[in-house]
Amino acid sequence: MNQTVPLLDGVHAVVTGGASGIGAAIVRKMSEAGASVAAWDVKPPEASTFSGLDRAVEFVEADITDPQSVSAALEATESLIGPVHSLINNAGVTRDRLVRDMSFDEWDTVLNVNLKGAFVTTKIVTPGMVERKSGTIVNISSLGGKVGTVGQANYCASKAGLVGLTKSTAKEFARFGIRVNAIQPGLIDTPMTAALRPDIYDKKLQEVPLRRAGRPDEIGDGCVFLASNMSSYITGVVLEIGGGRNI
Ligand SMILES: NC(=O)c1ccc[n+]([C@@H]2O[C@H](COP(=O)([O-])OP(=O)(O)OC[C@H]3O[C@@H](n4cnc5c(N)ncnc54)[C@H](O)[C@@H]3O)[C@@H](O)[C@H]2O)c1
Repeated sequence: MNQTVPLLDGVHAVVTGGASGIGAAIVRKMSEAGASVAAWDVKPPEASTFSGLDRAVEFVEADITDPQSVSAALEATESLIGPVHSLINNAGVTRDRLVRDMSFDEWDTVLNVNLKGAFVTTKIVTPGMVERKSGTIVNISSLGGKVGTVGQANYCASKAGLVGLTKSTAKEFARFGIRVNAIQPGLIDTPMTAALRPDIYDKKLQEVPLRRAGRPDEIGDGCVFLASNMSSYITGVVLEIGGGRNI
């Protein structure tokens, strides 16, 4: 018998940066697991991104660095799918450069989207969760935030900052039945990694004990787990999904 348990049946979820890449894979996995999902993004998904799913995915325009935009997105989302039970903070950007060449703008842009953005959405989405005394948040960090990467000081600082945000908010919101966890993806096959120089990609691949890059849907599986009751006694942890890289 091939029967999958709908782990997220009845769950209403928001995935930031959900229109493309890993975010879109998270949306698909959560939808397949039974959730009603809204993809928040600054740009709409391509027409085929969510084709073939049993239930429609709602696209809601949102700039997570802007509290007004996020408040409006939450209102729109609640009228489309109902109260938000699960928030996946996935949106992220890179502006890679050595510190000596990095502009203040490049620093600010990355910190604003990757770190402040997760604070803004957490601050605006959690009052409803507090009222209902339940909810889950998953922050998509990066293994770069654990070990640091040359040329990515802004990115790695933002991703390490997300771990601090995760642990503080896990403690702050635990008494309201809200669990907050982080995922640190390793080398995942996306347009971002496809653009890497082949020799750099191969060097990274050699660091992976499982000897392959990860797939975006494998990050989605982690989100399904952390948003579901399968992880009901897990909060404040950082789940590394990296094939053993940098352990
Ligand atoms: N690709 C990897 O190998 C890898 C590894 C570790 C961590 N990550 C993290 O996973 C997440 C997704 O990465 P990806 O490779 O899919 O990137 P991506 O560029 O394909 O997708 C990021 C999405 O975020 C959206 N976005 C950007 N700024 C936004 C804003 N202000 N408000 C709302 N949405 C915004 C973009 O429009 C885009 O759809 C990021 O946080 C990234 O740091 C990726």
